[in-house]
Amino acid sequence: MSAVAQPNAGAVATILAVTGFKGGTGKTTTLINLAVAAQRAGQRVLVVDADRQRSLSLWLDRRQKNCATPIAGQSVEVRDAVTLIASLRPAYDLVMIDMAGRDEAAVTEVIRVADFCLVPTRPSTLDADAAQRTVDSLERLQKPYAVLINQAPPASSSRFRAWTEFYDVRSRIVEPSWVARVAHQDAIAAGLGVMESQPASPAALEVLGAWLWLRARLDQLVRESRHV
Ligand SMILES: Nc1ncnc2c1ncn2[C@@H]1O[C@H](COP(=O)(O)OP(=O)(O)O)[C@@H](O)[C@H]1O
Ligand SMILES: [Mg+2]
Repeated sequence: MSAVAQPNAGAVATILAVTGFKGGTGKTTTLINLAVAAQRAGQRVLVVDADRQRSLSLWLDRRQKNCATPIAGQSVEVRDAVTLIASLRPAYDLVMIDMAGRDEAAVTEVIRVADFCLVPTRPSTLDADAAQRTVDSLERLQKPYAVLINQAPPASSSRFRAWTEFYDVRSRIVEPSWVARVAHQDAIAAGLGVMESQPASPAALEVLGAWLWLRARLDQLVRESRHV
């Protein structure tokens, strides 16, 4: 179905943790849209809701009712997530874990087993402070990661450019960033991602671009691990 090579063909799933020590940055929104992109690219995707808020599980419930292409999902206490992931990993290409925006031991354990971490952040000082703490922690754990600037002002604005440069000197940035768009909120309300609800929209193009960026990065990690 997909022209893109599987990052982990013949092996167990790639584990992607969406994390960050702050709420409201768009972790669940990011995970949902990238999960949909991965599914559309032919990957067998499992999403794991390890956040007691259960936003991801509620989206999954809406999806199973409204959509012909359900995505496999599990909800779990974050302290039990590592065991769950280990048991289900062989059946999937990509396992994506959604967690609360907290810096706690159980979250660190999930990060340890992840192949890659994605840190969504809004372009604001308070968010940047939290993203920096998250990034420092990922660096200490020697975990590959990338920062996705989400809920950004329009890309043409000087505010947007300033924030992209701010993050760029500190860490790796997913290209493109995601602008704040109501299409995201409407899609999630319908149990969909924006690539499904508004396939030709700017929001969908941003999601597709970020997915292709991520796939290339994951492929690169697989190649590097083969050369160790
Ligand atoms: N790119 C975006 N455009 C518009 N609204 C967004 C976007 N990303 C997230 N949101 C909204 O911001 C709020 C927080 O997003 P959410 O994914 O729940 O964050 P988190 O999981 O980090 O707490 C939600 O109301 C969501 O609909
Ligand atoms: Mg969330």
